[in-house]
Amino acid sequence: MGKRNILVTGGLGFIGSHTVLCLDAAGYNPIIIDNLHNSRIEVLDALTSLLGYRPTYVQGDVNDTELLQGLFDAHRPEAVIHFAAHKAVGESVENPLMYYHNNLVGLITLLDTMKLKGCSKMVFSSSCTVYGEPESVPVKESTPTRPAASPYGATKQMAEVILKDNAWCEVQCLRYFNPVGAHPTAKIGELPLGVPNNLIPYLTQTVAGIRERLTVYGGDYPTADGTCIRDYIHVMDLAEAHVAAIDRLFSTSKQLDVLPGDPSAGVFEVFNIGTGVGYSVLEVIQAFEAATGKKVNYTVGDRRPGDVVAVWADTDKVNNVLGWSAKRDLTTMMKDAWHWQENC
Ligand code: UFG
Repeated sequence: MGKRNILVTGGLGFIGSHTVLCLDAAGYNPIIIDNLHNSRIEVLDALTSLLGYRPTYVQGDVNDTELLQGLFDAHRPEAVIHFAAHKAVGESVENPLMYYHNNLVGLITLLDTMKLKGCSKMVFSSSCTVYGEPESVPVKESTPTRPAASPYGATKQMAEVILKDNAWCEVQCLRYFNPVGAHPTAKIGELPLGVPNNLIPYLTQTVAGIRERLTVYGGDYPTADGTCIRDYIHVMDLAEAHVAAIDRLFSTSKQLDVLPGDPSAGVFEVFNIGTGVGYSVLEVIQAFEAATGKKVNYTVGDRRPGDVVAVWADTDKVNNVLGWSAKRDLTTMMKDAWHWQENC
């Protein structure tokens, strides 16, 4: 039997590019579509060097119906991993229509095409942002979601509803916690386009001398050291979770009728993709310094509006049902993030 083709939207992005490598290692054939909005074509060269062959790549947008239909006709993907979306919280507040258009219209266009072409399996990139400020931690998949704090968060919540309602589609919905790190070769990682919003790229750019000083957003939170707590997860662990989700779609699914059928036949499974351990911002800085021997120039400043105090994953379900768990620790995350920064 030939390799199964898996369409990877946003396959040149941070998480997408690492997932392409893991799909190949697991015996799948990744087919990439990416519009280069938040990625660079050089990532394709890096993937080519790591894979030993040039993966199939189409430059384009998931909002382009004609292009998508042609892609499905040419490659007949048996499943889709849908990464292609905007992801900057602040930008989504400034330009909500751009977020609703890209993240939701793009998803609907993709679903229309999948349905038309008879492809019913999808792994979807969701986010722990759907939990908002949780009443208690760790959060379980069954923890009720909270009203979104940003249009970006709202698009993830709405996308989950859209996918759940489309019962013909078999969905593995992965709620990512905070992805960090890079491939151990440092050939691919998180691209530094503009001033970073997220902690780790800002931190590594500060140490590299690109930024003067890292501001820790708030030192007066009700946590042990006063700074916010997150569940940081190595991007390679996260990428491997996508392969586990794809494997599950092929191993558990019955052949579903993609025409309107029994809505109860739908598959919509949600998994938390985190380590199950939370670290404060100051703990992350300490871990970085210990892992790399580099000092971080930082100051504790005001809180950032919209930040939740503390969130980390309950990983029981993903460990037991999906059979996946994170393997790389915070030290590895910091070393790989720094190695990538040095190679940028
Ligand atoms: N932080 C700082 N200084 C910085 C940047 C961040 O102290 O310069 C702190 C934040 O206040 C927070 C922690 O570091 O406590 C992590 O912040 P990030 O911006 O790295 O990530 P968030 O937890 O805010 O997560 C957000 C969205 C997610 C999304 C993620 C990656 O809520 O949905 O960014 O894009 F997935």
